[in-house]
Amino acid sequence: SNRLAIRGQVLQFTADPFQLGTENACRFWSDGVVVVEDGVIRSVGQASDLLADVGPDVEVHDYAGRLIMAGFVDTHVHYPQMEVIASYGAQLIEWLNDYTFPAEGRFRDRDYAAKVAGLFLQESLRNGITTSAVYCTVHPESVDAFFEAAAPYGLRVIAGKVMMDRNAPDFLTDTAQSAYDDSKILIERWHGKGRALYGLTPRFAPTSTDAQLEAAGTLWQETPGVYMQTHVSENRQELAWVAELFPDCSDYLGVYEKYGLLGPRCVLGHGIYLSEREKAVIAETGSAVAHCPTSNLFIGSGLFDLAASQQRADPLRVGLATDIGGGTSLSIFATLRAAYEIAQLQSFSLHPIQAFYLATLGGAKSLYLDDKIGNLAPGYEADMVVIDLKSTPMITQRMEHAKDLTEALFIQMILADDRAIEATYSAGRRIYARDAGQN
Ligand code: GUN
Ligand code: FE
Repeated sequence: SNRLAIRGQVLQFTADPFQLGTENACRFWSDGVVVVEDGVIRSVGQASDLLADVGPDVEVHDYAGRLIMAGFVDTHVHYPQMEVIASYGAQLIEWLNDYTFPAEGRFRDRDYAAKVAGLFLQESLRNGITTSAVYCTVHPESVDAFFEAAAPYGLRVIAGKVMMDRNAPDFLTDTAQSAYDDSKILIERWHGKGRALYGLTPRFAPTSTDAQLEAAGTLWQETPGVYMQTHVSENRQELAWVAELFPDCSDYLGVYEKYGLLGPRCVLGHGIYLSEREKAVIAETGSAVAHCPTSNLFIGSGLFDLAASQQRADPLRVGLATDIGGGTSLSIFATLRAAYEIAQLQSFSLHPIQAFYLATLGGAKSLYLDDKIGNLAPGYEADMVVIDLKSTPMITQRMEHAKDLTEALFIQMILADDRAIEATYSAGRRIYARDAGQN
């Protein structure tokens, strides 16, 4: 058998810190170990105990003093928008028309798509992200390019072809029928291949006709286990536009509801301006919201009320998302810092345990993968990130005064960047090592 032990400070979640309190939400071993066999976690615990159990022959990766946790989960991101990051001076609709659509047009070229997909995956791994729910472009080639680039890493990724048959440039539109046909072929080709999963991806209500949304609903019904991802209620101008385009729907979410696009494995980006009715429907259907804090700030969309989403009788499934290229960073630390700052503006201080839960197991739960990824526990796929808690002089100095794990985590989410990601593992295989070049 193929066994490996990863040793260091080990963090495991035991409960949802939003629901059961941050005190009881995790276990921590300062000298812990994660034992992996054939890509799956066998055991997690005190190093002295477990290493004695597994015997002397097992290979050990020693990360003494560094923090090991589940790989990060990015629940909403656009790989073709790597080159749109940091586009100046526009809000959502103008930002799409002026920057995003022209960039996405380039992904008709499969070689180009392959190049950007590779870059995107490398950058994700450099930031400790092991699972992403990814929007490709309208071109099926962009989807093949993405899954092909991800395959060698064996990552558990979700991706799909953007469906868009109106209100976009001609070079970026499909039709209701071609979106259905192309998506179906891509599902057959990629869904369940290794750990890859497919996500139907109607971009958002304004860029799909009723016929296309209906086709998406039909296809989703026909393909159990497939994901469904889109945007909802991100920007005020967008809300008014949706109301105009779909006069018979009572609200924005009502459009997706009408076409059977809500339910488990539906991931809705943003959700800033959801009404009470819409939130109740999201909870009831088991749909999830992807919180995109850096994007919401950068495009000037608004402040998602994370606390309210959790402090209700029927808490919403919420994951964290970078939303590149509306978002400004593939760093989960930067994304959590923005989430913290947004919460602060709403008089809620996002606790670091809650924050890292959101970035791992909470994200996995929003994707209905919380029995497979998002935690370090027996039976879980061994996707892991190793965090160097003293990656810069500033952080090292600040860490001298950190009194516990909670403070150490908070310092990381406010101050750390990709330099803190020492290694990233996919199914027990180290696929990124920060210091590889120097060894
Ligand atoms: N709404 C529709 N498309 C997009 C997109 O690409 N990014 C963001 N942030 N919002 C969208
Ligand atoms: Fe988005």
